[in-house]
Amino acid sequence: MAIASVEESALAERLRNFRRHLHQHPELSLEEVQTTASIVEFLKDSGIEVLSSNLPTGTFALVRGKRPGPCVAIRTDIDALPIVEQTGLPYASTIEGKMHACGHDFHTASVLGAAWLAQQWADSEESFAGSILFVFQPAEEVGAGAKQVVASGVLQEQGVRCIFGEHNNPLLERGYIGVKSGPLMGSVDDFRIVVRGTGGHAAIPQTSVDPILVAAHLVTGLQSLVSRNVSPLHSAVVTVGQLHAGTARNIIPEEAVLEGTVRTLQPENRDLLEERLKTLAFSTAAAFGASAEVDYERQLPVTESDEAMAAIVREAAQHVVGVDAVVEAMPTLGGEDFSIYAEHLPSCFFWVGTGKPDGSSRGWHHPQFDVDEAQMLVASKIFVEAARRALVHFSK
Ligand code: NI
Repeated sequence: MAIASVEESALAERLRNFRRHLHQHPELSLEEVQTTASIVEFLKDSGIEVLSSNLPTGTFALVRGKRPGPCVAIRTDIDALPIVEQTGLPYASTIEGKMHACGHDFHTASVLGAAWLAQQWADSEESFAGSILFVFQPAEEVGAGAKQVVASGVLQEQGVRCIFGEHNNPLLERGYIGVKSGPLMGSVDDFRIVVRGTGGHAAIPQTSVDPILVAAHLVTGLQSLVSRNVSPLHSAVVTVGQLHAGTARNIIPEEAVLEGTVRTLQPENRDLLEERLKTLAFSTAAAFGASAEVDYERQLPVTESDEAMAAIVREAAQHVVGVDAVVEAMPTLGGEDFSIYAEHLPSCFFWVGTGKPDGSSRGWHHPQFDVDEAQMLVASKIFVEAARRALVHFSK
């Protein structure tokens, strides 16, 4: 699996060019048609087998070793966001209102690099037993893509035993890799509460039931869920992001609508928060003589890494960047649909540090978000090294 330095710099340049091309031509979730075509072109140009896929966007590639054995998977997301780019980069988005502001272009290029390295390895004298599936997953930003990939059946067809994924992280200094077993990213659940009162004249409140007053109590009460019901040693967030009610200053309206999101890092708090939120909504409304209707939608589970898979990625990363550059990953309550795979397979999701040493890097989804392209090939190498170790692990 050794790579000559001349080949390495050619690959690094190819990945940079590929990433910049994607960066200039971002496509939103479920619209990744040109992106998919570019990925397929790169794979075919590299002599890598592209599997036929029943997905509208996204694709799969397979690198087979010379001997039969287990299959392990590596996944990237490929979609962009509806954001107007303000980086001023020479290769900034050419599509108004769309931007790779989460670095999925970085992920895609680095996983293509991993596929290229794996193919060289497969074709070499010291080829391996087994196969590596590369998943170029669409629609991460809307939480739809991983579900599509699982439903496509490709993981069962190939007999995939485990899956690895990455996210660039501007909060982690470039050169560092963050790995941890257990929870890394939050669950994502959305809620909508409709408070129904009785409308009337603002000056004659005794004949009405004011849903705005109920909603105001609810906004305050909802903030007690985390502070009073979740262990202070755990992490969770309840945010009301929208509150709509009323049409005029002298009318008590019929209803008020609150919408928000609930995030947890410990799966056991998910049921607790849903139950408490509903109880609080119903009983607060009832206390004021109103009623409440709650739609609570579970979107994504907690992204958790399996202990054995995290150990494999940690050792692989230490092998590539050195022991001192691999740190315990700092969790976030942002959500990630990689969690869907983790429900089906042992997995590990890890951070690739892309932050500037002075800490001035913009965060995910910011119009001036940028990555450190030099880390793409580092990630490629970690993926292939982790796959190598996982193939051995599952051959035992
Ligand atoms: Ni992302």
